[in-house]
Amino acid sequence: MSKLFTKSEVASCNAKEKTLIILHDKVYDVTRFLNEHPGGEEILLDHAGKDSSEDFDDIGHSSDAFELMKNYLVGELVASERTYKTPKQSWSTTYVKSQTNKKDEGMSPTVMLAGLVVLLAVAYFLYL
Ligand code: HEM
Repeated sequence: MSKLFTKSEVASCNAKEKTLIILHDKVYDVTRFLNEHPGGEEILLDHAGKDSSEDFDDIGHSSDAFELMKNYLVGELVASERTYKTPKQSWSTTYVKSQTNKKDEGMSPTVMLAGLVVLLAVAYFLYL
């Protein structure tokens, strides 16, 4: 079970000593990530304690960034304070893909079977 935060709890953690950021109703503790963030520590501190979903989406992070984020997830907002806003396309496709079991990778068995049937049919008619 993840920890539940109120927005004011998050707001009080807006300094280098403790830096929480809200991204799509989830709370991330980026304190130990500040000096590793490729976009710089300044921008994280500017967004510390706040809901930064829109700015974060507008920047458009890579799938590597979404993988990294999982390490800093510490909880989510209490239900009454969530916005339930749908993340922008870039976030949802990258994030959802990294969260699911990459189901759509490779050829599906149905496609392979269909290919095999076609091959056998061609071979059958050629050698008949
Ligand atoms: C846990 C949260 C975050 C993680 C793990 C993270 C990770 C990263 C990574 C890995 C990059 C390098 C480029 C890429 O791979 O996309 C990056 C770049 C950047 N990030 Fe973040 N980031 C986080 C939060 C934020 C927030 C809240 C903001 C500001 C709203 C932000 C602003 C930027 C900017 C401006 C860049 C530079 C983009 C560029 O040079 O084109 N990041 N971040």
